[in-house]
Order: sequence, then C-alpha cells, then structure tokens
Amino acid sequence: MSSNSKKVYIETYGCQMNVNDTEVIFAILANEGFIRTEDIAEADVIMANTCSIRDNAEQRIWGRIEQFNLQKNTRHDVLTGIVGCMAERLKEKLLDKGNVDFVAGPDAYRNLPRLIADAAPGHPQIDTELSREETYGDIKPVRIDKNGVSAFISIMRGCNNVCSYCVVPYTRGVERSRDPRTIIEEARNLFDRGYKEVTLLGQNVDSYHWKCDREEVSFASLLEQVAHISPDLRIRFSTSNPQDFSDEVLMVMAKYDNICKHIHFPVQSGSNRILEKMRRRYTREWYLERVSRIREIIPDCGITTDVIAGFCSETEEDHKDTLSLFDIVGFDTAFMFYYSERPGTISQRNYPDDVDIETKTRRLNEIIALQGKKSLESYRKDIGKVFRVLVEGPSKKDPADLCGRASNNKMCVFADNIHKAGDYVDVEVTGCTSATLLCRLLD
Ligand code: 5AD
Ligand code: SF4
Repeated sequence: MSSNSKKVYIETYGCQMNVNDTEVIFAILANEGFIRTEDIAEADVIMANTCSIRDNAEQRIWGRIEQFNLQKNTRHDVLTGIVGCMAERLKEKLLDKGNVDFVAGPDAYRNLPRLIADAAPGHPQIDTELSREETYGDIKPVRIDKNGVSAFISIMRGCNNVCSYCVVPYTRGVERSRDPRTIIEEARNLFDRGYKEVTLLGQNVDSYHWKCDREEVSFASLLEQVAHISPDLRIRFSTSNPQDFSDEVLMVMAKYDNICKHIHFPVQSGSNRILEKMRRRYTREWYLERVSRIREIIPDCGITTDVIAGFCSETEEDHKDTLSLFDIVGFDTAFMFYYSERPGTISQRNYPDDVDIETKTRRLNEIIALQGKKSLESYRKDIGKVFRVLVEGPSKKDPADLCGRASNNKMCVFADNIHKAGDYVDVEVTGCTSATLLCRLLD
C-alpha cells in the first residue's frame, strides 16, 4: 500500500453493473492509498463512470465532464477522467473533445492507479483494452450503497448476444463468468457484515457458466449455492434473457423462500418481425409461453420488462403487437424507451433509423399510458395480501414512514417507529398507487 492519499470522487451513470464497477474501482484505488470523497470540491481525482446505451445518456455525461473540468480553473492539480462504456466507445476522441486526463474502459480498471500516476496536464493516459478473462473476481468491492442492507454482486461480464440495436457487446466485450467460489465468498462476507440482500448481476445471467477441472456450475446451481448461505439473506438477480430462461432456474426459485420472486424479463418488442430484426432469438409466442410458465410455477412472481418503441422499420401493426403483448402480460413495471441509434451497432450499419421522432414519441407515450393502467391493476391485485418486507429505511415521501421491498420487488410503505433498515417485517397491503403498495405493519 502506498501513501499517496489523493481524494477520489466518482459519479456513476447507467446500470446496476456500473454501480458495482464503481465499487470495484474504489477497491483498486483504495489499495494504492486513494481515499474516497463525496465532495467534488475537495477531490484530487474526479471521474465519471459512464454509459453509452442511448444517445441522451451520453449527452448528459458530456455536460458533467465540462463541469468537472471547471474544477481545474481554481485547482490546477486536479485530474479528470472518463471510465466505463463511453470510454470504451469513444477512446481517444474523449481526450480531444472531453479535455480529460485519463480514459479507462471497463476491463482496464486494474490499470487506473498507473494511468492516474502517469497523467499530467498535456499528457493524458488511456487504456481501453478489452479482455477475454478479466472478471475482477478477486477484488472486494468498497460498498457505496447508503444503507448497508442490499448490495450488488457481478457474476459475469460482457455479452455474447449481439442484439442489433445494442452497444454493450462493443463496450463490455465478450461474455465471461466469474469463479463461483469468489461469488459465494463475497455474498457470505456481505451477510457477515450485516447485509440482508444481494443482487446477482450480469447482462444475461442465464448463460452464466463456470467450468474448471471437473466442476461445472450453471446459473441455477449458483443461485442455489448462494441461497444456502442463510435463509435471512435474500437473493435477487438481473437480467434474464427470454431465449435462455430455463425451467431449472424457476424450480430453484420456487424451492427457496429467500430467492425473491421477481424476474426482470426484457421483451423489447411484441412483433415477431421486429424481434427478428433486433436479433432477439425468441418469438412473441415463445415469450408468452415463458411468462405462462413463470406464472404456473411461481404464481405470485413479479415480472418487469424493458421495451423499445420505434425500432427501424417499425409499422403501426408492429407497434400494436407490442401494445397487445403489454395488455396480455400485465407487467408490474416497465422501463420504456424509444430507439436511439448507436454508432457501430448492427442496426446502425444495416438499417435506416426511419421512424421519425414524432412517431417514436407518440408510440412510446402510448406504451407508457397503457403500462400505467397495467401497473395500477397489478398493484391493486396485491391489496389484502400479506408480504414479508426487508426494511430499506425511511420512506422518501414521508420520512416518518418506513419503506422496503416485498419479494416481488414492489416497494411497500408503512407507518412504523420500531424497526430499522435491515429488519424483516410482515405487512398487510391496504392500498396502492401504480408504483407503491401502501401497507399496515402486522405485529
Ligand atoms: N435504443 C433504445 N433503447 C435501448 N436499449 C438498449 N439499447 C437501446 C437503444 N439503442 C434498452 C433495452 C435494454 C435496456 C437496458 O436499454 O430495452 O434492455
Ligand atoms: Fe450499463 Fe449498458 Fe450503460 Fe454500459 S451501456 S453502463 S452496460 S447500461
């Protein structure tokens, strides 16, 4: 351990995996003596861990980089950097346009201490090498969550799917699974430190696969091993890909009370023609069959999704197929976007982005309106039910109330002045909005 004691400030954008990557970065830097700060004004090193998924994600970050660089006006030694997906996508271009001192891609974080040490005004440093092996499996992330209850664990990196609209395979490289022993150890360690919930993360968790000597571990068996740590440790996972989602995983979920009954199940479109063009390897019928199977094996399972409106060549007919799928499934919640063309992707290279912005927006708004009704229906169905909730802390709306999630991932709010973050409580649902269950604490 060196004693450089530089203060580091990191802003994180994008997905949960990026949050966990920031924790890995803090661990790597802490090992070299860097100290984490949440105050940008006192930081010696300022960086953004970035996201490239849609153009507006990147635009926001450009604005922040300008703000970061303003710190250099008064404090000339400050170093600024960009890491993560945007770093990988734009590489050297960031040095010119962003005027930053260092750039590191998602597989280059071990090299950050050296990049920072070598960076100087006029001598920016860059490493955007992708790796086939890096999983950061041996690194113990420095947790940045606020409540000490729930933590993310990355179980794999990269993605081999190459959906035509998606930039991730280019920014995060090929898929690799992490050694299950390091995953179990990390989960056990978190539980020993008082954490009550872990979320296993991967772009496509169902294709998790570890092979070493005579040992082979699938996602289903990994899930089972994590579930064995303690009945008081809840397990969540994200993201499942419909084409790979197996009955085996459903059976393991059904078997263990501490595996939360929620599946994030991105559909992207309800039209077979568009799904094929997106290079999703399932059909609408397959997707609906998987949803039926989930509900057959786990009747109360929460199901949420992602969808993209206005993909290349999407017709009104295709859009109606998406609306009808949303109507049939009745998701609890959905993350809804309109298509944003990403440079270098298969769709950008092969198909014109030919749905105009007004049509994209209108279709997206139609999906949002329908989903609003469906969410309300789904939340209403829970009125009268009793749920076990893991308390996360005071409710945002009314700090006198507590909030926490039910197993199905729905947020519950209830009056309670006895319990605290990390406690399990039983509540009865007495009312709802389309995003929250209003509950009564049971004694
Ligand atoms: N345009 C719009 N949305 C996208 N997503 C991924 N790529 C794009 C894109 N080019 C959405 C998908 C994915 C979620 C994380 O972001 O719905 O599941
Ligand atoms: Fe996460 Fe994808 Fe954004 Fe990268 S591009 S940060 S993988 S959401």
